[in-house]
Amino acid sequence: MPSLAIRSMVRSALVAMTPLFLAACAVGPAAPVAAAPVAASPAPEPDAAEIALLGERLFQERCSTCHDAGRAPPRTQIAANSRQQILEALDTGFMAPIAMFMSTREKTILARHLSGVAN
Ligand code: HEC
Repeated sequence: MPSLAIRSMVRSALVAMTPLFLAACAVGPAAPVAAAPVAASPAPEPDAAEIALLGERLFQERCSTCHDAGRAPPRTQIAANSRQQILEALDTGFMAPIAMFMSTREKTILARHLSGVAN
């Protein structure tokens, strides 16, 4: 039979380690967090900053190959159109095939940007 001294040393060592075991158990995988419900509200109206930034990017990506390259009326001529006219060109007019993969929001932003009417 091991001496009482050794048994009590082992016991106190185990007691001392208990918080570590508990801590290790506590660091288990986190409980899954319930997904936040997706808001069903429509995207907010684009503000001036988004129109300027995204509008310019869209123009560079989708329009400038023709309209900044002498193949089509220059940008200044596009700007002579109203926002609504530009939107119509993109929705149902001459530019509809070009813009068919653009969202309504993108077209709206582009029309506002190019017509110089930010809001
Ligand atoms: C493949 C070349 C091409 C691309 C790309 C293109 N356009 Fe055009 N666009 C033209 C041509 C050519 C005309 C002139 C049509 C005409 O003579 O009536 C035109 C005309 C227009 C007009 C009418 C301008 C006016 O005052 O007569 C608008 C507005 C317009 N484009 C907007 C856009 C926008 C916005 C984009 C980008 C999404 C775009 N276009 C991309 C070739 C292009």
